[in-house]
Amino acid sequence: MSGNSRPVTSNQDGIHPDLLRHLDRHRATPFRKPVSLHTRHAFERMQAAWRQAGRPPLVLDAGCGVGWSTLALAGRHPGHLVIGVDQSEERLQRGPAARPDNPANLLMLRADVVDFWRLMAAAGMTLSHHYLLYPNPWPRKQHLGRRWHGHPVFPVIIALGGRIECRSNWLLYMQEFATALQHLTGQAAEVQRWCPDPDAVLTPFEGKYLASGHSLWRCHADIPAVVLSAPVLP
Ligand SMILES: C[S@@+](CC[C@H](N)C(=O)[O-])C[C@H]1O[C@@H](n2cnc3c(N)ncnc32)[C@H](O)[C@@H]1O
Repeated sequence: MSGNSRPVTSNQDGIHPDLLRHLDRHRATPFRKPVSLHTRHAFERMQAAWRQAGRPPLVLDAGCGVGWSTLALAGRHPGHLVIGVDQSEERLQRGPAARPDNPANLLMLRADVVDFWRLMAAAGMTLSHHYLLYPNPWPRKQHLGRRWHGHPVFPVIIALGGRIECRSNWLLYMQEFATALQHLTGQAAEVQRWCPDPDAVLTPFEGKYLASGHSLWRCHADIPAVVLSAPVLP
């Protein structure tokens, strides 16, 4: 694993002053963006696999990249359907999605996870475990709306419930994520230093950042699933 990744730098030096305003607006506003066709098909594949498996609890690895984390999570969560979603076919083809011999509880899908989350919520589906591992940090102050907690989809992410875990090499991302989670759920969420053993590294980005000497952070919480009052589909 090469270790030449640069630490995140930002023109923002504390929790974004607009974060809570974004959250309140997003929670109250219908999310009407049309759903992409390929994501609708991926979602239907997931529902078919889920029904065929007898409707087990669901684990989602959102933005799974190549998907080695999803494969490891399938081993850690027997009796669950473990779904890896990424928008990049090229990335997925470098991981378990391209292999014929995966465990039966693993499902790798190319989809826009924003639409995938909304389809799940609209179908009344919930999650047992939800992983957001090393999302793109979007560190420029003006890009708050691209971070998951600043994105209109964040209330949907939270509504799916379960044990949610986010990891990042940018402490401020995690502090904002925890603040947003607490704002929407009323539940305290702690940010902890994350120091995995080198042989327990879960994702390629985690490995790359560790090898580059970055500090890693994680925030996790058990949150109840809720039904949103604002519509999440057109
Ligand atoms: C920084 S990478 C992290 C990948 C992986 N979790 C890891 O830790 O190695 C972020 C990933 O999120 C995916 N991603 C970003 N936005 C997405 C979206 N809207 N739908 C699906 N995947 C998305 C990207 O394609 C990319 O693979």
